[in-house]
Amino acid sequence: MTKPISLSRYLVEEQRERGNIPAQLRLLLEVVARACKGISHAVNKGALGDVLGSAGSENVQGEVQKKLDIIANDVLIEANEWGGHLAAMASEEMDNIYVVPNRYPQGEYLLLFDPLDGSSNIDVNVSIGTIFSVLQKPEGSSAVSEQDFLQAGAKQVAAGYCVYGPQTMLVLTVGDGVVMFTLDREQGSFALTQQNVKVPEDTQEFSINMSNMRHWAPPVKRYVDECLQGQDGVRGKNFNMRWIASMVADVHRILMRGGIFMYPWDQREPNKQGKLRLMYEANPMSWLIEQAGGASTNGHQRILDIQPTQLHERVSVILGSKNEVERVTAYHAKV
Ligand code: AHG
Ligand code: MN
Ligand code: MN
Repeated sequence: MTKPISLSRYLVEEQRERGNIPAQLRLLLEVVARACKGISHAVNKGALGDVLGSAGSENVQGEVQKKLDIIANDVLIEANEWGGHLAAMASEEMDNIYVVPNRYPQGEYLLLFDPLDGSSNIDVNVSIGTIFSVLQKPEGSSAVSEQDFLQAGAKQVAAGYCVYGPQTMLVLTVGDGVVMFTLDREQGSFALTQQNVKVPEDTQEFSINMSNMRHWAPPVKRYVDECLQGQDGVRGKNFNMRWIASMVADVHRILMRGGIFMYPWDQREPNKQGKLRLMYEANPMSWLIEQAGGASTNGHQRILDIQPTQLHERVSVILGSKNEVERVTAYHAKV
């Protein structure tokens, strides 16, 4: 068997061939990967590492924080603050942006992350993950501010996630397709295991929390109703359903074999755009899905075109196999 290509080598060669990974960005991606390795080790220890359970605090969105939410956040901050590649970071678990302390050099990138996605699955040993998004600090801005982060997802220069499942895998895009790396624990490094990832345009598998069905808007209800009718209904084919409740794991499955994932707006809190966060979850996942040939909208527009107005903004998400996402989006236009 030929020796697999390491993440470091992939990044160096990608820069050499396409020039889309400058040295600071390469360092950033290597540091994020190293942090994810650390988080993976903590996740793997479970009860033996005293990492399970609640931390007894709440984040800015009023959600109870788990110990691992905080551990993962700390690991990412500590790994990234001193390298000179970042100006600031923003996290789902922190109220405000974290500006690189002035004892360290400041770089030109902004890093955003959901340190631990799928918190409800931590204590039950189901796949969880880390999601990240990289932006460039706008030119001409001197002191970095929250405003600098409010860029549409289309401006991302790198995005990815690490899934802590039966295997720990790092999935990445720098705008040149989607690549997947598997953590080789004996070598202590990520090895390239899949390139040119493609989401099939059609699917017979949908992913949504069905317990919210009575609260959905009519277009989403119509779409799922039609899937449930199976081969006797208008779609003329049967659909399967999966809901892991870790976006990372659901999106990973869709990248591997297709499907449609939805966390839509619902009428319980009409002023809340959705549950998922635009900057930490929807933007990076939407870019990965688009880079793999899929689509992602909020029912009305492409997620990557949304101009954020707040750091912790939420959004309705419909992503995955292109033809299905276009169908649900078209249903919204008809209402
Ligand atoms: P987080 O753990 O970062 O708060 O995100 C959880 C998200 C997402 O990963 C998942 O798709 C969804 O919440 C699950 O929500 P339900 O528990 O409502 O199904
Ligand atoms: Mn999340
Ligand atoms: Mn989270």
